[in-house]
Amino acid sequence: MKGIILAGGYGTRLLPLTRVTNKHLLGVYDRPMIYYPIQCLVNAGVRDIMLVTGGNKAGEFLELLGNGQEFGLKELHYTYQEGAGGIAAALALTEDFADGDRIIVVLGDNIIERNIRRAAETFATQPEGAKILLKEVPDPQRFGVAHIDAAGKVLDIEEKPKEPKSNYAVIGIYMYDARVYEIIKTLKPSGRGELEITDVNNHYLRAGILTSDILEGWWTDAGTIESLHRAANMIARDGANHLDD
Ligand code: G1P
Repeated sequence: MKGIILAGGYGTRLLPLTRVTNKHLLGVYDRPMIYYPIQCLVNAGVRDIMLVTGGNKAGEFLELLGNGQEFGLKELHYTYQEGAGGIAAALALTEDFADGDRIIVVLGDNIIERNIRRAAETFATQPEGAKILLKEVPDPQRFGVAHIDAAGKVLDIEEKPKEPKSNYAVIGIYMYDARVYEIIKTLKPSGRGELEITDVNNHYLRAGILTSDILEGWWTDAGTIESLHRAANMIARDGANHLDD
């Protein structure tokens, strides 16, 4: 399994913090934001990781992270996204790196309290398809939202619905088999002009090969002023990326 971290975009929801730097280089409590998704993948047993960056100060990732020695990695792979075409467009850049393997994709501003080791192990035994992780949140309209039935089965996923059908957000950690790259090639830009990861997940759902788990421990994004502040407070209180289940 290979790991991919999406750390591009312009971080416009964090202006003026992101006027001259990349969102994922901002500090969250005691370390740069990008440290958290890297640690998340390393804790899941992933050693082969590519970082997709873009926008401002992309070169500083190399300066900050080098070959990832701080995380026990032998090397880190990097690629650059021109412009901001959405999460799925950024992911498309990693096709050669994935080279037919399964991937775990982590959005660079997503931080978790615990770990995804068990979900990754379960996905490795799933014959095909994708796995998403869900978390109950008080403000689902900010996220991709899963409509689920009484048994917890996902029926549909909507991106930032005005009237969410549940409180379960689809968090920014996704597990895919190699067909994800073929699916991305069929996508059309959404209303916000982006190739949406929610459309990828709905594609797997319609094919009947999407599984989902509820994430244990807290999860937050850090892409708005409020969530960046909240993330720092939660990390100060509890720490992040705990290895024990
Ligand atoms: C993205 C996804 C959304 C997901 C969220 C998690 O939203 O589109 O489905 O719930 O990440 O952080 P964005 O941050 O691009 O608005």
